[in-house]
Amino acid sequence: MDFKNLISHCKEYGFIFPSSEIYDGLSAVYDYGPYGVELKNNIKNYWWKSMVQMHENIVGIDAAIFMHPKTWKASGHVDAFNDPLVDNKDSKKRYRADQLIEGYAEKIEAKIIKDIEKAKARFGDSFDEKQFRETNDRVIERQKEIDAVLARLAAAMKDGNMEELGAMIQEYEIVCPESGSRNWTEVRQFNLMFNTQLGNIAGEEGKLYLRPETAQGIFVNFLNVQKSTRQKIPFGIAQIGKAFRNEIVARQFIFRMREFEQMEMQFFIRPGSEMEWYDYWKQTRLRWHSALGTDPAKLRFHDHVNLAHYANAAVDIEFEFPFGFRELEGIHSRTDFDLGQHQMLSGKKLQYFDPELNESYVPYVVETSIGCDRMFLAMISDSIREENVPDAEGQDSVRTVMKLHPALAPVKVAVLPLLKNKEELTKVATDVYDKLKVSFNCQYDEKDAIGRRYRRQDAIGTPYCVTVDFETLENDTVTIRDRDTLVQQRIKISEISDVVSKSVAMDNLLSR
Ligand code: GAP
Repeated sequence: MDFKNLISHCKEYGFIFPSSEIYDGLSAVYDYGPYGVELKNNIKNYWWKSMVQMHENIVGIDAAIFMHPKTWKASGHVDAFNDPLVDNKDSKKRYRADQLIEGYAEKIEAKIIKDIEKAKARFGDSFDEKQFRETNDRVIERQKEIDAVLARLAAAMKDGNMEELGAMIQEYEIVCPESGSRNWTEVRQFNLMFNTQLGNIAGEEGKLYLRPETAQGIFVNFLNVQKSTRQKIPFGIAQIGKAFRNEIVARQFIFRMREFEQMEMQFFIRPGSEMEWYDYWKQTRLRWHSALGTDPAKLRFHDHVNLAHYANAAVDIEFEFPFGFRELEGIHSRTDFDLGQHQMLSGKKLQYFDPELNESYVPYVVETSIGCDRMFLAMISDSIREENVPDAEGQDSVRTVMKLHPALAPVKVAVLPLLKNKEELTKVATDVYDKLKVSFNCQYDEKDAIGRRYRRQDAIGTPYCVTVDFETLENDTVTIRDRDTLVQQRIKISEISDVVSKSVAMDNLLSR
């Protein structure tokens, strides 16, 4: 399904709505609807269970969004959490300079793809893309140009060289997509933190930030948690919570939002052991993704070349979204940067006494950080598809189905009386529903023909539909329809709960 249709589907079926839509929405802010909130909660639950409850040395917290302003000075966000911004004077549109330059490189890549497609059509089955890329002069030249542009961009970003970015925009003759003009302002740094003001303190003193990452709530609580839980290094602190970033260009639906949710874990370790733990968390996190049955070809590691101000090693787990491979999760070796900075600015010791080494030190940290909303988008885009299936009369029809892992599915089972106006059927179906809803998120639906009701459940990813029909009245059996195989089995009412729980239980994911 293409991306536009996926976004419409999310709205039509109550997963995601644009924020304050009656006022034409607020850019890059979204609300989760009735099925969206269920799916999101299931994602969070899977993360929390596997991260906190399955590790005896990881504990959770829920820190406040507002923090003392010095937190953000210490973390480096006041000085270094910037994107390079440029305005087009004609359209008055604002862009990220690095994205404009990346767009220029993507245009060259598009020309390469065109050449490849032409050659493919010419040579047919014998066409070898790798060989073509390595030997075709025009492609080689274009690839060289892309590499040079990206290397120059990386160097300018690393040095924070805004003049160089401006020069590149001019030199590559990049035009504003809106006005088509090259009438640009200078490139300047733009801090991504939202700020607000405390009511009782005027001026700079009362300036507060909305946290741009949840991690700092963990760092400043490091000793509180360690002492109150008597954890020994290595141990971790995990948190799920909102974060806010004033993204200059917010695009691609819930991929880049201004208000979003993070699931982060800081793992405190001995200095010098960071690469070992970095590798451990890389593999552990990839397994977490793979357990969901995500197409392995859609997941890959991407090592960072330009490291954030706090990291000495960093890798992304990338997912192939409908618009290409992009960061889904980050794993960062943050050294003792954050604790060291907080120690310096607060004047409070943030050290751990290691009884085995008989010495105190500021622990090193390996962090895993995943955006809950990005994970949501990954799950929707990996699972949604249009399929040809036979309808109730055996005729070919198209269904839209979300083949979500059953443990993540918003609704686990739908209970459907075959006919709406037969009280004997609706009465039994209501009883079945009342029993099942204690254990599972269920839905009772009696409106429309049974085939349409199946389609509605397919569209929201419900793994099972239970139908109460006339045979139910004779022998207490129902049909249970499997979303993926479409097979309908007749089972006893007393067996429904077992069949459903076997496949929807979170244990299926956690015990792998
Ligand atoms: N504490 C480390 C940190 O915040 P990050 O790579 O900037 O690192 C971590 O963010 C994750 O948060 C990303 O991998 C992504 O999934 C998510 N994320 C970051 N910015 C986002 C945005 N504007 N909208 C949605 N998710 C975002």
